[in-house]
Amino acid sequence: MKIAVVGTGYVGLVTGTCFAETGNHVTCVDIDVQKIEKMRNKQMPIFEPGLDLLFNRNIEQGRLDFTTELAEGIKDAQVIFLALPTPPGEDGSADLQYILKVAEDLGPILEKYAVIVDKSTVPVGTAEKVRAKIQANAKVDFDVVSNPEFLREGVAVDDFMKPDRVVVGTQSAKAQKVMELLYAPLVRQGNPVIFMDEKSAELTKYAANSFLATKITFMNEIANLCELVGADVDAVRRGVGTDSRIGNRFLFAGIGYGGSCFPKDVQALAKSSREYDYNFELLNSVMEVNHRQKTKLFPKLIEYFGGSLRGKTIAVWGLAFKPNTDDIREAPALYNIDEFLEAGATVKVYDPEAMENVREIYGDKLVYSPHQYAASDDADALVIFTEWPVFRTPDFDVLAKGLKNSVIFDGRNLYDLDAMADLGFDYISVGRAEVKKAQAIKV
Ligand code: UDX
Repeated sequence: MKIAVVGTGYVGLVTGTCFAETGNHVTCVDIDVQKIEKMRNKQMPIFEPGLDLLFNRNIEQGRLDFTTELAEGIKDAQVIFLALPTPPGEDGSADLQYILKVAEDLGPILEKYAVIVDKSTVPVGTAEKVRAKIQANAKVDFDVVSNPEFLREGVAVDDFMKPDRVVVGTQSAKAQKVMELLYAPLVRQGNPVIFMDEKSAELTKYAANSFLATKITFMNEIANLCELVGADVDAVRRGVGTDSRIGNRFLFAGIGYGGSCFPKDVQALAKSSREYDYNFELLNSVMEVNHRQKTKLFPKLIEYFGGSLRGKTIAVWGLAFKPNTDDIREAPALYNIDEFLEAGATVKVYDPEAMENVREIYGDKLVYSPHQYAASDDADALVIFTEWPVFRTPDFDVLAKGLKNSVIFDGRNLYDLDAMADLGFDYISVGRAEVKKAQAIKV
């Protein structure tokens, strides 16, 4: 098939590259001239494991190309994906200006029947709006379908190529046939392509992300309770997760969820519910609890150091909102770094991928370390915000020798409590007992 993907952000690039990989010819369209130029030279603008290999191969084999001209990009395309940004406006609702502008531009330049696919996360009713914008100037027949994306950063290629399910909102038999053909190579194991009306498809995306955010938040509340009653959230997680009705995934307590999707989607669903005069009370709590959770370790640091961090050096391992990405949007690490700086501490940071993105925001306010132990050397405490694999089994001897105090605050529960006690560390994690050997703090 001939496919166009309008918008080369995260979702657009993964969609375009993966559909080229299944043998289609894909043209990616973006108004950013420099970005298009770079991609033509095989420079991948995002970090996503495994994607660059497919990206290079498909460019080399002539199945993936790029243009800044919409008319050129959609010429002969049977399917046109809209993967444009929908940033939250000031009131939290998704801003549709980019999608609607492209829809308006598409009308007069469509030369023959095409399926136009909303791939961005958009509020209920957007497909209808897109259809109306195109219809206003269209000379040919077309369909608009909603096809939300469920991929996770860091494992996006796998998620795209082997989806649990594909959700397609359309009531047109013609569009349904096209979408079936397009997705057939990805669902050969029998995973379903679920067809439904457009509004249900649009809502499915928000419902899925909000449910997962709620699941995590619920466990974070349980973790907070565990600390008070003296229980262990890891044990509770195993206990409840083995109930197949609950499932064992997305039950890891920590310092809150971040990223580009959960915070934005929970907020947008709460907001759009209000537009229909419905108060989605549960989501309001999820947002509030998650916000609190992000900095829950900070008061514990203050307490540990006798009421102040002034003059202390804090080592930070992990800046990205989760491992295997350089994405720092809504990352808990940043909220904490702000608190540390405000409290008068020096902050030394290390992350395997996200350092440059953090440097763009913080400039010389932070010390950027070339590796994880350079961050911890001479620091008063180590704080972990992201569960990168490289932090899971560190060299504790090197850590202990480098740190002024053998103390770790762990927002991701990476280490075993007994092991930390044996190693002689003070260890404060989330929803578990504190390991403290009451050593004198060295200054
Ligand atoms: C999410 C959805 O999973 C995906 O389907 C959707 O398309 C986009 O949003 P993503 O934001 O890439 O994907 O990351 P994900 O792996 O889902 O993690 C989201 C956040 O939840 C991270 O901050 C992560 O640390 C946190 N999380 C996840 C937990 O705190 N505990 C868990 O058990 C799982």
